[in-house]
Amino acid sequence: MKRTSIFYGLITMVCLTSCTKLIKIDTSDFVTDKDYHSFANVDEVVITHTNLFFDIDFDNNVINGSNEISYKKLKTDAKTLVLDSRNLTINEVHSVNSKGITKPLNWTFGQTHKALGQAIIIDLPNNSNESIVVNYTTSPQASGLQWLKPEQTSDKKHPFLFSQSQAIHARSWIPLQDSPQVRHTYTATVKLNRDLRPVMSAYNNPNLAGDTKVYHFDMPQAIPSYLIAIGVGNLKYKAISHRSGVWAEPSILEAAAYEFEDTEKMIQAGEQLYGEYVWDTYELLILPSSFPFGGMENPRLSFITPTVIAGDKSLVSLIAHELAHSWSGNLVTNATWRDLWLNEGFTTYFESRITELVNGKEIKNMEAVLSYQGLLEEIETLSDKEQKLALDIRGQDPDDAFSGIPYDKGRMMLDWLESEYGRDKFDVFVKNYFNHFAFQSITTEIFMKYLEDNLINKHPGIVNIDQVNEWVFQPGIPKTAVIPATDLFKKIDLITTKWMNNEISSNEIPTTNWNTQQWLYFLNNMPENFNKKRMIELDKQFNLTDSKNAEIAHIWYVLSIQNNYKFAFEKMEKYLIEIGRRKLIVPLYRELSKTPENKAWGQKVYAMARPGYHGLAQTTIDKIFD
Ligand code: BES
Ligand code: ZN
Repeated sequence: MKRTSIFYGLITMVCLTSCTKLIKIDTSDFVTDKDYHSFANVDEVVITHTNLFFDIDFDNNVINGSNEISYKKLKTDAKTLVLDSRNLTINEVHSVNSKGITKPLNWTFGQTHKALGQAIIIDLPNNSNESIVVNYTTSPQASGLQWLKPEQTSDKKHPFLFSQSQAIHARSWIPLQDSPQVRHTYTATVKLNRDLRPVMSAYNNPNLAGDTKVYHFDMPQAIPSYLIAIGVGNLKYKAISHRSGVWAEPSILEAAAYEFEDTEKMIQAGEQLYGEYVWDTYELLILPSSFPFGGMENPRLSFITPTVIAGDKSLVSLIAHELAHSWSGNLVTNATWRDLWLNEGFTTYFESRITELVNGKEIKNMEAVLSYQGLLEEIETLSDKEQKLALDIRGQDPDDAFSGIPYDKGRMMLDWLESEYGRDKFDVFVKNYFNHFAFQSITTEIFMKYLEDNLINKHPGIVNIDQVNEWVFQPGIPKTAVIPATDLFKKIDLITTKWMNNEISSNEIPTTNWNTQQWLYFLNNMPENFNKKRMIELDKQFNLTDSKNAEIAHIWYVLSIQNNYKFAFEKMEKYLIEIGRRKLIVPLYRELSKTPENKAWGQKVYAMARPGYHGLAQTTIDKIFD
């Protein structure tokens, strides 16, 4: 996703000490371990545990919530606890002591900031053993929640609710220190006014009686706020192994369990590479198709788009990706959103290693080429500043700064290190890195120091720190990069040339044994003189307009727009209304917006589709159509 608004100057924040006047923070002095996306005074006080209560109201699309906060003072003279919030109504705040005696606490809201929301500044109780309780109500427009009507679900019978907290949306449904620098455990009680099943990024007991409307959750491992997650719907569970399984609506449960039946193998592959899976259980929650991401690594319960259920397990790298975050991200976490590449780059690299072990080297290589090609295309659209791994996104909404750079460039840097040191040495390094920083949040600089001490200086004469600095702090892809390639794709290049030169006809294109990745490569690499006539031929032969594979359909629709192949537009309209995953729909709207006629059509479809999209997708596409 390309950044659209860049705001470099001064950002205003509320004075956290006197809380009366507005101060400006000069962002020219960069502090690497400062989280510029949170108001929380984490240098003074940190939350150690939160006991949550959610009364989920499907009639009004709100949560009436309560957050009971246990905390630790880092500075003895700390006077306030500053929490993050966005669009929350705070009903009251009080302290509670071990005997259950409560006392009201003074609190105020800070100034509202467009991207960051509003600080809640609470006077600390005299005794820090007392916990702080915040009673609040969410807005129906809470940016971290999507409330779905029955018709927006797979089964079309019951409403659905899900959260998406990363990067800074937890604050829109829970008042807390919304910074990846703070980790705490949580317990939660969820009360419903429907006969539905809630699940959380916690232990989810599949054996609870079906008629209860109150559920309890326990997350005994400390996690950052962006990993607190909830899903509520008519959810059923199917086990994959003793520790893994799938939660989904009944109509897709079997298909999902089949598609993802290699999940246990993936966990074992992860463990073989980098050590024990520490989160006990690993489950997947299959969301309705409006989920704006492919997946989200909520601990113990990855959230997954249904658009990867292709029927042939061909898009399961997504599971490898979300699972890999159990190490890179959920164990070792980026300290700020500037350091997102530590989460996503390591995860994309790790994902490819799991894919190699479970699905083979060929698939791994094909996916590497596809992601490299995607990176090259995207880099064309990014400024130099946006192409660095460590991103200066002060004053910006992290959502607007989202791109493939932390993922694919980050992964390429690790591919390069792997190739320089060899797997034996590099795997030991990565495994030790996860161990060393487990349950911590680290900056790019901390990683660089660890890399220097434990790889570069340990095995001298192989890589120097300037080369690493170039990867992290300079735009573009360094010359040291290992460019992925595979003979299977080279064969496709030859076939495409022959077909375009009329040496073979479309029924002679040898697609019988092609997998999804080969199709994606074929379609994504059509030469300049590919045109509508060629599209008609292909569609006649392979019926691509009706492809059930959401990724293949996506590329086909991009080509349809580019080549004015109107025959595909009816199906594309259905696709755009049905699917809300940004990666699949945003490029289509962007392509449509390029000619007046298509733009008008795109706007008409968007008007129909928009109410069903998640707020994140709406914001992105609104910008395309001004
Ligand atoms: N953690 C991300 C999703 C995310 C990143 C949400 C930043 C908000 C801010 C998740 O693990 C992810 O990377 N999803 C990708 C998966 C793909 C790269 C395999 C997605 O949704 O496309
Ligand atoms: Zn990820």
